[in-house]
Amino acid sequence: MTKILMVCLGNICRSPLAKYILEEKLGDIKNNIFVDSCGTAAYHIGESADERTIAIAKKYHIDISKHRARQFKKNDFETFDIIYAMDADNFNQLVYMADNYASKSKIKLFLEDAYPNKKLDVPDPYYGDIESFDNTFKIIDNACEIIVKNFKF
Ligand code: 4NP
Repeated sequence: MTKILMVCLGNICRSPLAKYILEEKLGDIKNNIFVDSCGTAAYHIGESADERTIAIAKKYHIDISKHRARQFKKNDFETFDIIYAMDADNFNQLVYMADNYASKSKIKLFLEDAYPNKKLDVPDPYYGDIESFDNTFKIIDNACEIIVKNFKF
């Protein structure tokens, strides 16, 4: 079983979308892959996804109503095989927390597969409007498509 962790700041906007969209695209192979999400910050622990995240996911027929936010913990470096950071700040925070090469080598920028070597961030929609959430959804959706295509099963 391959275990994939999606990481953003609050775990209420980008990383829950990444988890649920990837799971949807995995389809039948979902049983061999475990996907989870979390945030590097503690602000929203235990909360549902942002209501705008839930609404934009619903627009594209994805139900994320069961999501509850959690914070990244050091033990996640042992549990997960691939740790996708949604942006450079979270990438750097994860690298800072990793205390060995094995842990560091698991951390990737989420948009690395879709846009190799460009070091692009998934835009944080939190301070934006519903259009920002729609834009972020489409970027994550496209990146998940490529992650599934590139994945070595
Ligand atoms: P996320 O978005 O990291 O994609 O979940 C944010 C959620 C909350 C905050 C910032 C970004 N905040 O500052 O509370």
